[in-house]
Amino acid sequence: MDRQGFRLLVLVVFFQTCFGLKNVLFLIASDLRPEIGAYYSTVSQFYPFMHTPNIDALAAKSLLMKNAHVQYANCGPSRSSFMTGRRPDTTGVYNNNDYWRTVGGPFETIPEHFKLNGYNTAGFGKVFYGGSSSGDDDDAQSWTETYFRGSKTFESKENSWHAINASSLVNDRLVDEQIADEAIASLQTLAQEAINGTANFFVAVGFRRPNLPFVFPDDVMSMYYPEASITLPSNPYVPANMPSIAWSSWGALRRYDDIGALGVNGNRNNTLPDANVLELRRAYYSSITWVDEQLGRVVDEIQNLGLENDTIISLISDNGFLLGEHGGWCKNSLFELATRVPMMIHIPGLTDGGIVSYELAELVDVFPTVVEAAGLDPLSLCPENSSTITNCTEGLSLLPLTTNPCMGLKNASFSQQVRKKEVMGYSIRTQRYRYTEWIDFDFSTNTPDWTALRDQELYDLTADFEQNFNVVSDSGYSGVVSELSAALQSGWRNAII
Ligand SMILES: *[C@@H]1O[C@H](CO)[C@@H](O)[C@H](O)[C@H]1NC(C)=O
Ligand SMILES: *[C@@H]1O[C@H](CO)[C@@H](O)[C@H](O)[C@H]1NC(C)=O
Ligand SMILES: *[C@@H]1O[C@H](CO)[C@@H](O)[C@H](O)[C@H]1NC(C)=O
Ligand SMILES: *[C@@H]1O[C@H](CO)[C@@H](O)[C@H](O)[C@H]1NC(C)=O
Ligand SMILES: *[C@@H]1O[C@H](CO)[C@@H](O)[C@H](O)[C@H]1NC(C)=O
Ligand SMILES: *[C@@H]1O[C@H](CO)[C@@H](O)[C@H](O)[C@H]1NC(C)=O
Ligand SMILES: *[C@@H]1O[C@H](CO)[C@@H](O)[C@H](O)[C@H]1NC(C)=O
Repeated sequence: MDRQGFRLLVLVVFFQTCFGLKNVLFLIASDLRPEIGAYYSTVSQFYPFMHTPNIDALAAKSLLMKNAHVQYANCGPSRSSFMTGRRPDTTGVYNNNDYWRTVGGPFETIPEHFKLNGYNTAGFGKVFYGGSSSGDDDDAQSWTETYFRGSKTFESKENSWHAINASSLVNDRLVDEQIADEAIASLQTLAQEAINGTANFFVAVGFRRPNLPFVFPDDVMSMYYPEASITLPSNPYVPANMPSIAWSSWGALRRYDDIGALGVNGNRNNTLPDANVLELRRAYYSSITWVDEQLGRVVDEIQNLGLENDTIISLISDNGFLLGEHGGWCKNSLFELATRVPMMIHIPGLTDGGIVSYELAELVDVFPTVVEAAGLDPLSLCPENSSTITNCTEGLSLLPLTTNPCMGLKNASFSQQVRKKEVMGYSIRTQRYRYTEWIDFDFSTNTPDWTALRDQELYDLTADFEQNFNVVSDSGYSGVVSELSAALQSGWRNAII
């Protein structure tokens, strides 16, 4: 056994003998890029005055991963991936419709794994994308309790954003408030069995915001006055030498009537008028503050129930979001702003003082991390062909970072993106670079053809964190390109240190 393995063994034994198993509160936000106080830095494109006190407080007592990335920057594929701990090429899910159990295999989900280990499991809001992508019943076999999705009040095709006044909310609750209310009620019930030693709980709460439409109570918008404090993105143009295949035309925003009326087509450099950019940015920030309020209520309930020393609390988002940077919007691309997400895990007794890590992490790491932090047996790494194995992982437990946040576990993260139902973008992110190959992909067998290279991108993030220059053709980078191309094609297994 190596040193790392030994440390893990000690940790696991320590947990199981001294504290017993832990409960889990598993929080998810939708389309939340790390635009949170705790993630602000002077070399980021994030707004400096975010009002996110509850998430910041959670971050301050968590292992906070500052360089975490998604496997696929869209809800359905991303959630199918992190909820099963497998990558899109294993789940076979590249859209919002396919169900991994049908197109991939009988892969256990995080809640199902806890359920099989004797936990009560309950889900609220948007945990899976929903609909057919989770079997039309939010993957019923994952849960011991009845699933609660909530209803989308005040959301319509008319408005990309809408600040709702207090009088409208007297008799109606916004969906994230419904989700928080139901989650709190369930925690109160499940706490009884957790406290008397009958069963621990795993409670997943998926907030719908800051996903479009940006609907929130108008009082949160007051955090973002004066309006003059909201600024335009510094780079409202596509990167120099960006291949057109890298572009996504943000149909998910243009389909709202208010945006459609502006006559924009989503083409490269066809940007929204400045006034709309500012308005949408303020509405996105307001939506984040609204999620922060609701999330704070759920987290506080753990404390009210006296379970703060027995409950792990994690927070992730399914993907990032562009807010006019590059003149683009939404996700479905391989830009850092689409792939980078917040990731934090509070493990009582272990992360209370806050641990910040700049190591690369991936959403597939969340499953094995939460399992080990709770004190269950560690999951083993999936073999090359895991199509019949229910409970292995294609990620790594991040627990070793709690002892040494600089310990490199992997030297790259991997993301992918479909274009035109025939091309796959495969992208590798190292500490310094993001490198992408757009290649032919056979969707009948899910096989990449690395020889059919259509386009490439290389961004040197040390010199260009905004990704404004694709330098793949610069002769000075030719050595880097061949190294990264080899690393990309040899895949995530070979990036494990
Ligand atoms: C609140 O919004 C509703 C719907 O837009 C509107 O009819 C009503 O007049 C508003 N109330 C106040 C107090 O502004
Ligand atoms: C634990 O609490 C549950 C829920 O209140 C109750 O049904 C059960 O009988 C209790 N078990 C024990 C051992 O006290
Ligand atoms: C986009 O705009 C930038 C800045 O004005 C310009 O340099 C670039 O050539 C334009 N690209 C395309 C594809 O229109
Ligand atoms: C949780 O642990 C802290 C530190 O050990 C302690 O001060 C606090 O009282 C504990 N809370 C509960 C509810 O046991
Ligand atoms: C995985 O599943 C197998 C077969 O059901 C079981 O024996 C094993 O204990 C499980 N492993 C974990 C880590 O849960
Ligand atoms: C993976 O294993 C399954 C079951 O053994 C088999 O049916 C399938 O063909 C294998 N897939 C590949 C790509 O080898
Ligand atoms: C990552 O580390 C592995 C194992 O140490 C090594 O083989 C690989 O070349 C490295 N890749 C990159 C992109 O640095």
